[in-house]
Amino acid sequence: MTAPRVLQTADPRAAYQAAADEILAAIRRVLESGHYILGPEVEAFERGFAKYLGAAHVVGVASGTDALELALRAAGIKAGDRVVTVANTATATVAAIELAGAKAVFVDIDPHSMTMDPDALEACLVRSGEAKPSAVVPVHLYGHPADLPRIGAIAQTHGMAVIEDCAQAHGATIRGRRVGTFGQAAAFSFYPTKNLGAIGDGGAIATNDARLADQVRLLRQYGWRQRYVSESPGKNSRLDELQAAILRVKLARLDADNQRRKTLAGEYLRRLAGAKLELPTVAPDCESVWHQFVVRTPAREALRSHLAGAGIQTAVLYPVPIHRQPAYRDDKLDLPVTERTCRELLCLPMHPGLGPADVELVCRQILSWSVAQR
Ligand SMILES: Cc1ncc(COP(=O)(O)O)c(C=O)c1O
Repeated sequence: MTAPRVLQTADPRAAYQAAADEILAAIRRVLESGHYILGPEVEAFERGFAKYLGAAHVVGVASGTDALELALRAAGIKAGDRVVTVANTATATVAAIELAGAKAVFVDIDPHSMTMDPDALEACLVRSGEAKPSAVVPVHLYGHPADLPRIGAIAQTHGMAVIEDCAQAHGATIRGRRVGTFGQAAAFSFYPTKNLGAIGDGGAIATNDARLADQVRLLRQYGWRQRYVSESPGKNSRLDELQAAILRVKLARLDADNQRRKTLAGEYLRRLAGAKLELPTVAPDCESVWHQFVVRTPAREALRSHLAGAGIQTAVLYPVPIHRQPAYRDDKLDLPVTERTCRELLCLPMHPGLGPADVELVCRQILSWSVAQR
């Protein structure tokens, strides 16, 4: 007897299976080349991803966390600096700010996009009595762009660097321009469940600034320009040849995968229009790449257990905002929109391996739950 199928929120194995022949050929090519670290595959992937984004430079590193840390360091962020970001993000965003030696300052989010509220950023900058932050890290969350045109203008007025966290938004656009090209630099993660996912860890920095790209190249390998000669203090954060070769295969499929996510999201929105839920929206000048499909309800836990009973997995990204977590606790800070969002959000299954029948099943279960709520 086969076990009943559980609908997963993300499915990296399905992503591998969809391109298995090409991925296995890419792996074999690397294994037989004898070149495993920082070689032709990494260079080709960096060129390909830069072209895809419309950025002048891409530098591959070992993870999204490292990409953020190295981008901040290359942009001149140093010990004691303050960096503004949001609290409804992966802990990695804040860990990277701290790894660069800086302190994270949290501002609230916009209730519609669930990304950084530019008004809250502005208010934080005019608050007296605190040193002015040196950088801002907006997070393009769930595949939806943060308001980079406004955040960028505010940052420019206040002389701050903008480092975009693009870990959840490969291919998303604002006014037709891809995220990752708005700030001084941007950080991408290739964690296996991301829209562009490796089969292991990986990350990259994108930038139009040749000097910043050069700095990151030094930082990712012991400060070496010439082997065994450290020009500056660096670390080991290299993207390996196997992951780069796999990412080249995945990059060629990224737009089609994102289009599939968009179709599934459209189906969810259409079918759930009457449900007792807050549905996600897309800002008029933006294209989301639907990394997550996030609904909100004060009855989140009840809906979650109803769906679990029907074999439908859900996720909560993120249940506890960073300023309420033991490592970063700040009891004096109130971020009401962030806190409500973290209490109410639920991520429904969303990945290119889903079919319309899967979305229909999820929606049918949500609608029957929703009717029982009235
Ligand atoms: C918003 C965000 N920032 C940063 C990261 C860190 O990426 P990585 O897990 O590759 O270090 C992630 C991934 O979990 C993320 O979702």
